Amino acid sequence: MILAPSILSSDFARLAEEVAAAARGGATLVHVDVMDGHFVPNITLGPPIVASLHKATPLPLDVHLMIENADRYLQAFVAAGAAWISLHQEAVPHLERQVAFLRERGVRTGVALNPATPLAALDEILPELDYVLVMSVNPGFGGQKFIPGALDKIRRLRRVIQDRGLKTQIEVDGGVDAGNIRALVEAGAEVLVAGSAVFGKGDPEAAARRLLEAAR
Ligand code: DX5
Ligand code: ZN
Repeated sequence: MILAPSILSSDFARLAEEVAAAARGGATLVHVDVMDGHFVPNITLGPPIVASLHKATPLPLDVHLMIENADRYLQAFVAAGAAWISLHQEAVPHLERQVAFLRERGVRTGVALNPATPLAALDEILPELDYVLVMSVNPGFGGQKFIPGALDKIRRLRRVIQDRGLKTQIEVDGGVDAGNIRALVEAGAEVLVAGSAVFGKGDPEAAARRLLEAAR
């Protein structure tokens, strides 16, 4: 199980310290939300901040691209040091080409699904993916309420992955907290993203530790 704190809810002026604290609490991956104000109604950050953060932490960076025209920016995020990159099925028309581009460059590659996007949208591409990111909120903001339907979606995806003999990991993102993390792990999620539950409470180290304890 991997706890991936989302820096969206952190204090960006103290990013390195916030991430280091979450790492002391047991986080092993850093989730970086990239938003363009077009695919989602919010704007966050781009490759320069990813490059700076990559220098400031030994943890791998998991870059969640919530942007249109992602193909134009993939090389820049790879060069900035992204170890994992997820693309949204709803935002990338030539998904196979972009997935192949990333995998050829040694990036762990995932596809993200909005809550309303059916798992069937991944039928063809699934064997090419290292992970699937199941969104349990509509992307755009931290601190939203968990959409309960995500639990069954994760269970169904776990079954599909097993039936097809794949090794694809399942990541869940949105509204993850100490109250639902255990159920998410039992449903089959292996990578748990948590923004406000780690950075929204003042002490990211203690918050990360509490989430990991709740997951076990
Ligand atoms: C939402 C982002 C999430 C967000 C999660 O669009 O993709 O990664 O930071 O934040 P919480 O955990 O607060 O829902
Ligand atoms: Zn995210």
